[in-house]
Amino acid sequence: MFVEWTKNLETGVTFVDADHKVLINLLNQVDDCIEQVEESTVLGSVLDALVEYTDYHFLREEKMMELSGYKGLDSHMAIHRALSQQVRNVYTDYQDDPWSVDPESVRSFLQSWLVDHIMGHDFAYRDACVNNIEASRVAGEVHFLNGRGGAGFSNWDQLRVMLVDDNPNFRKLIHTILKAVGIRNVQLVDKPADGLSRLAQRPADVVLCDWVMDEMNGTEFARKVNEMELPSRVVMMTGYSIDVLQDRSSDMNISAYLEKPIKARDLLETISKAALSVVAVTKLAHVVV
Ligand SMILES: [Fe+2]
Ligand SMILES: [Fe+2]
Repeated sequence: MFVEWTKNLETGVTFVDADHKVLINLLNQVDDCIEQVEESTVLGSVLDALVEYTDYHFLREEKMMELSGYKGLDSHMAIHRALSQQVRNVYTDYQDDPWSVDPESVRSFLQSWLVDHIMGHDFAYRDACVNNIEASRVAGEVHFLNGRGGAGFSNWDQLRVMLVDDNPNFRKLIHTILKAVGIRNVQLVDKPADGLSRLAQRPADVVLCDWVMDEMNGTEFARKVNEMELPSRVVMMTGYSIDVLQDRSSDMNISAYLEKPIKARDLLETISKAALSVVAVTKLAHVVV
């Protein structure tokens, strides 16, 4: 692990520490992908999640500081804007030309901005905020998808998700994103055949599946899930163009397609829609909208 979470990083505010852990996890995932299979696609997916999650975390933190009457709010907000722009610039460079971004420099840049900001500026608001239970409760209730898609589905902690992907770095990243919004019931599977046998024993509402895998590709996997007549919704992920994939799997009853590099917001909105359709069809008692 590149940066280990320690007590030294704790602010004492539960949701802030949880958010910081997600950001540190994402930083570690930049480290994990270096010189590994699909390095660039994983890096792009992690950068997108970092941009989104940084903005979301800053929004919650600023709300807490505001409600606590923290005097340093304005300068802290200015620092947030600058940090957010810096990570966005790296992501824009990646989007313009993925090969122009060196993961090792991204890793050191993120390490310094994240750790320095937490231990410097975030620690400065602790006295003003840590005992303000109401301020952290209200700020902590701001959800990642609030007001920006995902409307209608909110019961993330009841949702059962299976992820079938042979790339461990994608499994780690997607798991981080799912946990960050409160999805606790996640089955991580590296082999499609294992996914099928696990589904028979422990159902999932939404199955995220990589298209290109050894032994069995995603469309074959989706066809078998169909044959099992489960209510599960299959979402197919691919590094190829979605048009090509749609063409080749038009009869597979696939709910949605996602292109890699994965965009965290698209992923969650897609899961949200798939979850709503599971509820509509099955009226499953465990998923209440
Ligand atoms: Fe923070
Ligand atoms: Fe901050």
